[in-house]
Amino acid sequence: MRERCLCSVKYNEPIAKDIFKLVIETSVNLQQIPGQFINIKIDNFYLRRPFSICDCLEKSIIIVYKVVGRGTKRLSETTRAQQLDIICGLGNGFDMDALSDKSEVVLIGGGMGAAPLYFLAKSLKESGVSFETVLGFTDSKQAFFLDEFSRFSAIHVSSLDGKIGTKGLVTDSLRDISYNYYFSCGPLPMLKSVHRFKAAPGQLLLEERMGCGFGACMSCSFKTINKSKRICVDGPVIYSSEVDFSE
Ligand SMILES: Cc1cc2nc3c(=O)[nH]c(=O)nc-3n(C[C@H](O)[C@H](O)[C@H](O)COP(=O)(O)OP(=O)(O)OC[C@H]3O[C@@H](n4cnc5c(N)ncnc54)[C@H](O)[C@@H]3O)c2cc1C
Ligand code: FES
Repeated sequence: MRERCLCSVKYNEPIAKDIFKLVIETSVNLQQIPGQFINIKIDNFYLRRPFSICDCLEKSIIIVYKVVGRGTKRLSETTRAQQLDIICGLGNGFDMDALSDKSEVVLIGGGMGAAPLYFLAKSLKESGVSFETVLGFTDSKQAFFLDEFSRFSAIHVSSLDGKIGTKGLVTDSLRDISYNYYFSCGPLPMLKSVHRFKAAPGQLLLEERMGCGFGACMSCSFKTINKSKRICVDGPVIYSSEVDFSE
């Protein structure tokens, strides 16, 4: 359920190069679905910034974010016990009911796209679904959560610099894996490659730029085979069968 709340910062520290883990605590019980996101109000910025939920415990939410601009820089300066105004319960989240007994599942994450897949991995594991995880990073300094992911499944890591895992792209790792259903999040070029790599059913989490975050401005429009969808309210997860990557 969509809810605005004031949270207290419990932890906000770097875990890789320019990448921070933020733990925020609320006074209410939070029930979020993997793939949903929160919108954080950052001091001196009119537009809230969206971040996928990386993990959710009863009264706390964890996000992992990369400092890419002024908003995330300001967020990285937030200290323990400071208050953050967030809106949670946003977006549709992954549809885990789409899986059947025959599903051979792989989670495919690129860069910051690994963050929402962690919550999904945890939830799939708790539901007794077995899967493999493929993670790709630009370089070894930006890799995160490898030990955490390996608690839930076999993981296959690739990096462009080859300093961790296989040298190459996530699709290079996919060659060695048998799967018939996938969940993926990462930069758009990666999602396109994953979608083209194999005509399997799956779900893609899009983290493209947003404006208002509540469906009014259309700045997050994404073309699907039927119609244009707004990532903030119709997504951010879309089924691979809806994707139109023709342009
Ligand atoms: C649903 C959703 C979930 C997201 N989850 C995460 C997450 O878990 N972790 C994380 O690190 N980031 C995530 N993002 C991206 C994050 O919202 C942006 O990086 C952030 O808003 C940038 O704010 P800024 O003020 O620092 O950057 P700005 O000053 O607004 O921009 C700085 C630079 O970053 C680029 N940029 C801004 N937004 C995005 C974006 N969405 N994707 C790619 N480049 C962008 C701009 O083009 C510009 O080059 C998510 C985005 C969406 C829509
Ligand atoms: S961000 Fe404004 S409609 Fe989606």
